[in-house]
Amino acid sequence: MRCIDWVDGAVVLIDQTLLPAEERWLRITDPDELVDAIQRLAVRGAPALGAAGALGVALAAARDLGSVEAAAARLRSARPTAVNLARGADRVLSRLPDGPAAVLAEARSVLEEEASASRAIGERGADLLGGGAPVRLLTHCNTGWLATVEWGTALGIVTVLHERGLVERVYADETRPLLQGARLTAYELAALGVDHRVIADGAAASVIARGLVDAVVVGADRIAANGDVANKVGTYPLALAAARAGIPFIVAAPESTVDPATATGAGIEIEARDPAEVFAGPAYNPAFDVTPADLVTAVVTEKRTVRPAEGESL
Ligand code: MRU
Repeated sequence: MRCIDWVDGAVVLIDQTLLPAEERWLRITDPDELVDAIQRLAVRGAPALGAAGALGVALAAARDLGSVEAAAARLRSARPTAVNLARGADRVLSRLPDGPAAVLAEARSVLEEEASASRAIGERGADLLGGGAPVRLLTHCNTGWLATVEWGTALGIVTVLHERGLVERVYADETRPLLQGARLTAYELAALGVDHRVIADGAAASVIARGLVDAVVVGADRIAANGDVANKVGTYPLALAAARAGIPFIVAAPESTVDPATATGAGIEIEARDPAEVFAGPAYNPAFDVTPADLVTAVVTEKRTVRPAEGESL
């Protein structure tokens, strides 16, 4: 299953704001509608945003070659933290001199590459974590097929481990304020038939401290060269709790989420969203946080396993 694709001249995506109550697919033919879908999280998750950026540029090229650069600029800045979005848009834009067919072919390759990267991450991560008895994992936000075009990163690892009979239980943080964990991860885990429990974000540290979790596995929106990891807000406290409990904190992400041009997490722009998502009064709503490299046991990509906590850089 793909959460976003190119079908008959349009971008087709599942509206994630309505899940799990309703599975509604949107057919988008205007790049600015896609910008809106990105901003309201109808399509979300770093690799899926890369696909959206890529397909959005292809959409603009199919409509009006003169408008492509401006459309690409609006797409790439629709959300700032996940590097995949700008990277997907820029990569496809670079094929503009070759015409709309080349642009579309490049966009399709972004989707194919993300799909195959997810599968490889799942296998590599399962090899890392699945050495013995079935494991109890804790995850945050949503990192399955809804977030990655196909399959998943952290949830891709869960999927492969589950196929191998090596998952005892997954604790899924509800992920305030927009409940990607309670709405989307629980929906995906139920479909996979994985034993799971949704927990309040504030319960995660004590669930870890009580010895109920063997490893924390999360995705990423941008990984700096030194191994600092930006991911959904609430990830950093999980890394602190994992370090205190002496369990691994694993980050699963494609190479397209690694940003060698950003030296450290201090250089990553953190999206500030509408305070009303948090509270109908004074509120502050940073959508991501940065986990320092020294708390990251391993970054698993489709190509390598890097250990930032041991001083390795990306
Ligand atoms: O705001 P979102 O829902 O786009 O945030 C998504 C996350 O933080 C994911 O963990 C990350 O993009 C990895 S998706 C494989």
